[in-house]
Amino acid sequence: MNRFIDMHCHILPGVDDGSQTPEETKEMLRQEWEEGTRVIVATPHYHKTRGKNDLALIKEQLLLTRKLAREVHPKLQVCLGMEIYYSDEIPELLKTGEVVPIRKSRYVLVEFSPGDSFRHIQNAVKLVQMKGYSVVVAHIERYTCLRNDISNVEYLKEMGAYLQVNTGSIVGDYGRNVKKFLREILKRNLADLVGTDAHNTTKRRPSMQKAYEEVKKLCGQEYADCIFEKNARKMLKNEEITDRN
Ligand SMILES: [Fe+2]
Repeated sequence: MNRFIDMHCHILPGVDDGSQTPEETKEMLRQEWEEGTRVIVATPHYHKTRGKNDLALIKEQLLLTRKLAREVHPKLQVCLGMEIYYSDEIPELLKTGEVVPIRKSRYVLVEFSPGDSFRHIQNAVKLVQMKGYSVVVAHIERYTCLRNDISNVEYLKEMGAYLQVNTGSIVGDYGRNVKKFLREILKRNLADLVGTDAHNTTKRRPSMQKAYEEVKKLCGQEYADCIFEKNARKMLKNEEITDRN
């Protein structure tokens, strides 16, 4: 039986451009459970326009989402994280607690703009690491500087960054080029984690199973289990991922 962990999901109602109502959240939770997800990391946007950036509201909506999750199934868990859009203030805001890591661990989910330069991404990773955190780069397939040069991806890993990919991108929801790039990433076992990056119950719904099957077929079950569950489980316990591929 699959026990997936969704490391990236906009499932809290009314805090960002993801779920807008408790009803929508409950339906997303139901879909997650049916897909085989057992732990969801809710990662609301910390972003100028895409999120409300109100931690009190986020925590309130987390409690509501946990209640809804229990109604879907008593074993469905929801943890708190944040998808933090990088800006110069972020390293300091991590220290003050205005932005939060994944489940109070050392791991921080960071996103960039698709057209950001590799130099910018590198600097950002370094500055967050210097504050004592480990960076998880959100949906690496979105950044042109990585898609155009896979050695940049390898360099990020050498720097100690962790790499998250979206399940929808693996199965081709975001076009053939993105899918092709991720096939290469997966074949080289460069990805560390997956997330659905779900925003709703329709076009950006939380799907896991199909992507898992594809990764299993392409790379074998051991690696698929690592990126769909095992690595995430270690992160949630704030443990180091030692057997990095
Ligand atoms: Fe996201």
